Amino acid sequence: MNENTDKVEQIIEKYKNEGGTVIGLLQDVSSIYRHLPEDVLERLSDELGIPLAKLFTLSTFYKSFRLEPLGEHHICVCVGTACHVNGAQKLVDTLERDFHIKAGETTSDKKFTLETVNCLGACAMGPLVIVDGEYHGKMDQKKMQSSLKKLETAENDTA
Ligand code: FES
Repeated sequence: MNENTDKVEQIIEKYKNEGGTVIGLLQDVSSIYRHLPEDVLERLSDELGIPLAKLFTLSTFYKSFRLEPLGEHHICVCVGTACHVNGAQKLVDTLERDFHIKAGETTSDKKFTLETVNCLGACAMGPLVIVDGEYHGKMDQKKMQSSLKKLETAENDTA
């Protein structure tokens, strides 16, 4: 049994004993895996008697949940109006081209997941890009390349 399986075990016990919302349950699982693995959803369904269809419906309805695992690095470009007029779409186009994926997808080597979002509430900093949870305002092609290079260098240093 690995560490994540133990955590799922604890979550199941918690919901059996204390109850809770299905959304809360999914959030707990998502915080462990950063996505909702199909086999875990099946297990929750079996152990807690929640129809699997309900779990899948909720997992796909809420944008904060994902069924597919995130890549090693998560890049999220704000394409809200203020960021859009400052060139966000060009950043998305370049990343899609360089990564050979569309926004919402993960590269085949599982290194990068590219996503877009509509307004992060810091419009004056647009275009805004979040790289692995770190906010980068006034992003442009040059800064984007430099951020990606830093990720690469950090990876090589730890290899
Ligand atoms: S439009 Fe990008 S932060 Fe508001």
